Amino acid sequence: MYPEDGLFEAMVPGVSEDPQRQAEEEAGFPGEVPPVPAGMPHAPVPEVANHDVIDDAIHNPVFQTEDLSVSYSGKPAVLDVTMKVPEKEITAFIGPSGCGKSTILRCFDRMNDLIPAASVTGTVRYHGVDLYASDVDAVQVRKKIGMVFQKPNPFPKSIYENIAFGPRVQGMKGDMDELVETALRRASLWDDVKDRLKDNAFGMSGGQQQRLCIARALATDPDVLLMDEPCSALDPISTGRIEDLMHELKETVSIVIVTHNMQQAARVSDRTAFFIVDLSAGEDQRIGRLVEYGPTDRMFTNPHDTRTEEYISGKFG
Ligand SMILES: Nc1ncnc2c1ncn2[C@@H]1O[C@H](COP(=O)(O)OP(=O)(O)OP(=O)(O)O)[C@@H](O)[C@H]1O
Ligand SMILES: [Mg+2]
Repeated sequence: MYPEDGLFEAMVPGVSEDPQRQAEEEAGFPGEVPPVPAGMPHAPVPEVANHDVIDDAIHNPVFQTEDLSVSYSGKPAVLDVTMKVPEKEITAFIGPSGCGKSTILRCFDRMNDLIPAASVTGTVRYHGVDLYASDVDAVQVRKKIGMVFQKPNPFPKSIYENIAFGPRVQGMKGDMDELVETALRRASLWDDVKDRLKDNAFGMSGGQQQRLCIARALATDPDVLLMDEPCSALDPISTGRIEDLMHELKETVSIVIVTHNMQQAARVSDRTAFFIVDLSAGEDQRIGRLVEYGPTDRMFTNPHDTRTEEYISGKFG
């Protein structure tokens, strides 16, 4: 449901005749945040999501969420995330620890299904298909959507077997040697490892292991790559190589990256989503919310929300 379907009416209680106009009058320009009242840690989350959040400029979203919320053991962790993730672009999730970046990322490949305490409400559409519909097989979903984690997690196998494992399990046909080489080349790792494909992956450096994990994710030819702080354990040179790689990959793959590194978000991403931990319901109720979402250059040069500005300039978080 988007503005043309009456989202504004649904979100602004008591609006009757011209909800759009009334909302604009109340909110000032779209995305404007009222001043922070004395004694409050931050401004209240605007009732009407700003116009970048429901970004109509994204015509072919790979993901589209609506009121996506996740609770753990009944306790809300992140609430009401409505956004479109563009196809073949890089989208960065930023925000302080605990604001729900990883939780939302895990919704995109149904990894939260594997956490018994987690419950997901709202919708996530993947190329328009409801990812959580009862007839959608989560295992099939994960074949199209690769995930790379903060800590490189190669299998305790050879470099070759790390790459070949997924395609074999999926029954992919074709020349396995060629497939392994292609995946390693796409991850800019081929020249580093072509003479030691039979060596155990644990003998590689951290940066190489992370690129191996990216190659492993690419071997099954995914449509999307989800990356949760993929460079946080890496040195600047390995980080730079992975960022270059992301630029090359976005020709063919849609990427969502979680990062605590503001420079990285500014360098690599086309769009940035900023989440906060909302404490307005009390210090013991830490609720993650999407505050602002838009083109990265706009977010970093002209943030609409004071909290975005404070976060990216290092004043909190
Ligand atoms: N498996 C889990 N079981 C219970 N609670 C969880 C679980 N995973 C996350 N949470 C809670 O959900 C909230 C959001 O966590 P999440 O890991 O998504 O945040 P994050 O933004 O990725 O943080 P960080 O930047 O530290 O990685 C936190 O309050 C966290 O404690
Ligand atoms: Mg996280």
